[in-house]
Amino acid sequence: MDKIQITGGRQLHGKVNISGAKNAALPLIAASILVNGKTCFTNVPDLMDITSIRLLLEDLGATCKASKGYFEVDGASVKKIEAEYDLVRKMRASILVLGPLVARFGHAKVSMPGGCAIGARPVNMHLSGLEALGVSISIEHGYIEAKAGRLIGNEIYFDMPTVTGTENLMMAATLAKGTSILRNTAREPEIIALADALNKMGAKINGAGTAIITIEGVKKLSSVDIKIIPDRIETGTFMVAAAATGGDILIKGCEPHHSGGLINKLKAAGTIITTSTDSIRIVGNKPIKSVDIKTLPYPGFPTDMQAQFMTLMTIANGNSMIHESIFENRFVHANELLRMGADISISSGNIAMVRGVKRLQAAQVMASDLRASASLVIAGLVAEGTTVISRVYHMDRGYEAIEKKLALLGADIERI
Ligand code: EPZ
Repeated sequence: MDKIQITGGRQLHGKVNISGAKNAALPLIAASILVNGKTCFTNVPDLMDITSIRLLLEDLGATCKASKGYFEVDGASVKKIEAEYDLVRKMRASILVLGPLVARFGHAKVSMPGGCAIGARPVNMHLSGLEALGVSISIEHGYIEAKAGRLIGNEIYFDMPTVTGTENLMMAATLAKGTSILRNTAREPEIIALADALNKMGAKINGAGTAIITIEGVKKLSSVDIKIIPDRIETGTFMVAAAATGGDILIKGCEPHHSGGLINKLKAAGTIITTSTDSIRIVGNKPIKSVDIKTLPYPGFPTDMQAQFMTLMTIANGNSMIHESIFENRFVHANELLRMGADISISSGNIAMVRGVKRLQAAQVMASDLRASASLVIAGLVAEGTTVISRVYHMDRGYEAIEKKLALLGADIERI
């Protein structure tokens, strides 16, 4: 099992290039099931989760080709409609094949995705949305079985914004008979990227990025080439690392307007941020000011940046309140930060009070989920001494060669 070793105290300086977004690539690759032909992707990140969805698509019969940054799926050979437990349990986002499979084949069997460290992660809104489109759903022996003739367009209300729920239903509705209107949808940039790609394939989707998305069903979708948008969470992770170390970095190949919620809070914490069309310059400034945050659906402060921002607040000058409103158990990283000398108290499960300390102390710590591992890396960058992080396979799911990119910025970091 790989570990990451970091000796703290170095400021980050230099340039870093952002990879394609994991959370854009996964739904886009799932959408290739809708096409009875090839879909080609560029700017694809080299991540464990991309390998996972490739293995799943190949198990369904798709023919895949991959090389550095490139991924091609031929959906013509998809013939199996069952996504098996062993593949789905490795990545919850596998649920994204459900909508495309049942829309194209009228039948799908997908293992129920389990919960994970950050919460129960139910998929009830995915299933009730599909039922609204005329799909009959049964759950037996841990599998979701979905059956339908041709899906029928309908109105769907989401109880709350769900990113993959919006993506699943948007994909399913593209091949339905008639028009569907999705309301209270997620508005993330990854939703817009998916809608743009589906429209390029011949779908008729309007309103992506707003709370109401209208989809006019079409008979079929065709082959296209798609470039994956930059990863706004990787971008945010490097921004927080620069702020925490008091460094000065230039983040290239990103979409600054996708990170507005975070930039707003980093400026309030005292960092100096200037943006151009595809780059962000961030200069850390001491002392770091303490700032309260509440995670919200996009364009609010992203829950996927909460753990990283908490690390920054552990060394801020003052107290900050962190309210995690999206997931019910997304403070697991706090226990490890406490072991590094942070002063954090958690009340009522989703509010953490962080009191800034002068400096964190290096320790042996354990990653529990993807973004928690990023928060521990940032902690290691600023802690006194040498930190060793175990279970870094969590990080490999969503960050492409992060230790190499950080080393190029001057961090004393290596995989052991
Ligand atoms: C997506 O997960 C992301 N994953 C997550 O990123 C991200 O944290 C999350 O959106 C929120 O932004 C991908 O895009 C692959 P949700 P998703 O459905 O779609 C509840 C990362 O680190 N809910 O928007 O699974 C749910 O429990 C990962 O890259 C239901 O109750 O999240 C949560 O409380 C972690 N019923 C809230 O909605 C449902 O049917 C938002 O979840 C669906 C969701």
